[in-house]
Amino acid sequence: MDKFVIRGGNPLVGTIRVSGAKNSALPCMAAAILTEDEVTLENIPQVRDIETERKLLASMGAEVELGYGRAQHRTRISCKLLSDPVAKYEIVKTMRASSLVLGPLIARTGMARVAMPGGCAIGGRPIDLHIKGLEKMGATISQEHGYLEARADRLKGASIVFDKITVTGTEDLLMAATLADGETVMENCAREPEVTDLAELLTAMGAKIEGAGTSTIRVQGVTSLHGARHRINPDRIEAGTFLIAGAITGGDLIVANCNPTHLGAVMTKLEEAGAKVEIFSQDSVRVRRDGPLRAVDISTEEYPGFPTDMQAQYMALATQSEGICQVKENIFENRFMHVQELVRMGANIRVDGRVAYVRGASPLSAAAVMCSDLRASASLVLAALVADGESILDRVYHMDRGYERIEEKLRGVGAQIRRMGSIFSPKQTEVTL
Ligand code: EPZ
Repeated sequence: MDKFVIRGGNPLVGTIRVSGAKNSALPCMAAAILTEDEVTLENIPQVRDIETERKLLASMGAEVELGYGRAQHRTRISCKLLSDPVAKYEIVKTMRASSLVLGPLIARTGMARVAMPGGCAIGGRPIDLHIKGLEKMGATISQEHGYLEARADRLKGASIVFDKITVTGTEDLLMAATLADGETVMENCAREPEVTDLAELLTAMGAKIEGAGTSTIRVQGVTSLHGARHRINPDRIEAGTFLIAGAITGGDLIVANCNPTHLGAVMTKLEEAGAKVEIFSQDSVRVRRDGPLRAVDISTEEYPGFPTDMQAQYMALATQSEGICQVKENIFENRFMHVQELVRMGANIRVDGRVAYVRGASPLSAAAVMCSDLRASASLVLAALVADGESILDRVYHMDRGYERIEEKLRGVGAQIRRMGSIFSPKQTEVTL
């Protein structure tokens, strides 16, 4: 199991580049199921979840080429022959976003057999809203032996109102609706940029979609989709993580290859907390800090509110802010796994249900800590960058799921960080989510 060794104390200075968004790439790769033609996606991040998605599509009979050469970071997918439209448990249990193949498989082949994803470290992660929407579109779905069996001669357009805002639920049903017979209207949709990115790809493939990025999406079903080439959005969560890295270390960091328009809530919070954040160019943001940080409350909300995927990272910053900061997690029921590890580094945090009270500023001391999930790992890296001494972070495979070569990127702007153990290899590690 790989570990990170991080010695704190260095302000991060220079330019750090953001990779493509994992949470855009995953639905866009699944969208290739909807056509016999080849789909080419660029700006694909070299992270473990993308390799898992490649394995998943290949296991169903797709041809998936995944290249990370210098100019590449590209995948070419052909789902001409889907000989085995089954998302097997061995793969699904390592990445619950595998449920994104459910809608495309039913829409393209009329059937799907997808292992129930089960929960993960941050919560139960049900997909009942995906199922409810597909049944509304005429699919018959049964559950047995831990698998969803879904069938539909041809999905039909429907009016769907999501009980809760769900990102992959919106994406799953959006993909299904593109090949349904008639119009589908979905309300209370997720407005995340990843939904808009997927809709752009689907439109390039010939889908007829209106309203992506708003809470109401209309889709006129078509009989078939064709291939397309599409460039994946920059990863707004990686960008936000680096902005916090610049602020927490008191450095002067330019976060490049990002989309500042996707970072509004995070940039606003950092400014309120005392960092200086400015749009440096149309695809870069500069963050500096020349004074103490102030405790500013956050409450996670769906986009464009403060992202739940940035909560753990912000909490690390809050440990260095003067005063008591209230961190409210409204989206997932168990997303404070990083708290105990931060406390072991000297943070003063008390959790009461969905709220963590962070009293700062606390000097952090280096420690051996354990990563538990993707964003909790990022929180521990940020804390270790300011802790006194050398921290050891164990189980960094969680980090490799969604951050591309983060130790190299951070070292490039002055962090003292190195990886112990094998370099990232695409081989799949049994990972409980
Ligand atoms: C997506 O997960 C992201 N993953 C998550 O990022 C992100 O945290 C989450 O959206 C919220 O922004 C991908 O895009 C691959 P949801 P998703 O459905 O779609 C409940 C990361 O760190 N819900 O929007 O699975 C659910 O339990 C990952 O990159 C139902 O009740 O999240 C949660 O409380 C972690 N029934 C809330 O909705 C359903 O059918 C939002 O979940 C679906 C969801």
